[in-house]
Amino acid sequence: MAATKTYLTGVQTSGMPHIGNYIGAIKPALAAASANDTLYFLADFHSLNSVKDPDRLRNDIRSVAATWLACGLDPQRTVIYRQSSIPEVFELSSILASVTAKGLMNRAHAYKAARDRNEAAGGTDLDAGVNMGLFNYPILMAADILVMEADVVPVGRDQVQHIEYTGDIARAFNHLYGDSYAFPIPQGAYPEGEASILPGIDGRKMSKSYDNHIPIFLPENKLKKLVRRIPTDSTPVEAPKDPDTSVPFQLLAQFAPAERVEPVRKRLEEGGMGWGELKNELFEVLNETFGPMRERYDELVAPGRELDAILTAGAERARERSRATLAKVRTAVGID
Ligand code: ADP
Ligand code: TRP
Repeated sequence: MAATKTYLTGVQTSGMPHIGNYIGAIKPALAAASANDTLYFLADFHSLNSVKDPDRLRNDIRSVAATWLACGLDPQRTVIYRQSSIPEVFELSSILASVTAKGLMNRAHAYKAARDRNEAAGGTDLDAGVNMGLFNYPILMAADILVMEADVVPVGRDQVQHIEYTGDIARAFNHLYGDSYAFPIPQGAYPEGEASILPGIDGRKMSKSYDNHIPIFLPENKLKKLVRRIPTDSTPVEAPKDPDTSVPFQLLAQFAPAERVEPVRKRLEEGGMGWGELKNELFEVLNETFGPMRERYDELVAPGRELDAILTAGAERARERSRATLAKVRTAVGID
């Protein structure tokens, strides 16, 4: 019988997730976690490249961790930890840097995109605004994955190159030191088919960068206000409307069961339901979906030891793996 595969993924700590992140990332990840041997970590050192405000970084990390737990991540089943709690990640990152060609990093998408932006802006220094953290990101990500000897890494398609680089770096190491220790080569697992992309309150893709998002755990009154702000046209209540071009309807369809969505679709198509009523329905559904989780979220983010204790326990479990890997790697390279 094949040994159980280890799944690992890193979660960016960029503030309280929104309901698009919930449908596109959190919900599928939690479904996958219940069926596999899974490690989820908060990629806080990666955030350091862009976030220079310590209070914000601190709050973002807690908020993201509390969100995943409140949404149903079971810390007994899934190992959840902060990247920064695993010193072996950083040690391995240095060792991997010594077998990684600089040219590989020059070709990394995120770095190239930063240079292209500088070039398009007519700058003479194409590396302006690029820190070494961004440049080294693929090596640190390879260390995140290899230190846990992960077999499968579920990520979005935008991460394909990072997963390929992890394989390249692991192979470079294995080629030199494989007689003593070889990393398993991890595989990416990418979402199949068209994923549902939720529109934001302005109709574009919901994204923090467009500031058109609905944070998952807004207090009830703020949630209601935000839903009311979704722009709609001035079609009168009695006129027929096209549900499929309506942002509140598209959001409703993601969160309400079919038996609640279909009557709304019918009433919009036939006329007789106004946008105001539709938005009230959307608010009710979001509030019912996230209300109970919000209570748990509020408990977890409140200053106290519970969240820290969960993450510390996760880090201890994760370090059993990372320490074992580093011992083998150190022996293989001759620093033991
Ligand atoms: P943002 O655009 O708000 O910064 P991220 O790029 O950090 O969001 O995305 C984190 C995860 O959430 C990714 O897996 C991404 O596919 C998913 N995601 C982001 N926005 C949406 C959306 N509007 N609909 C569905 N999934 C989304
Ligand atoms: N780069 C990933 C992203 O932007 C986050 C990440 C960091 C990650 N390290 C990882 C994902 C290791 C999977 C495995 O979403």
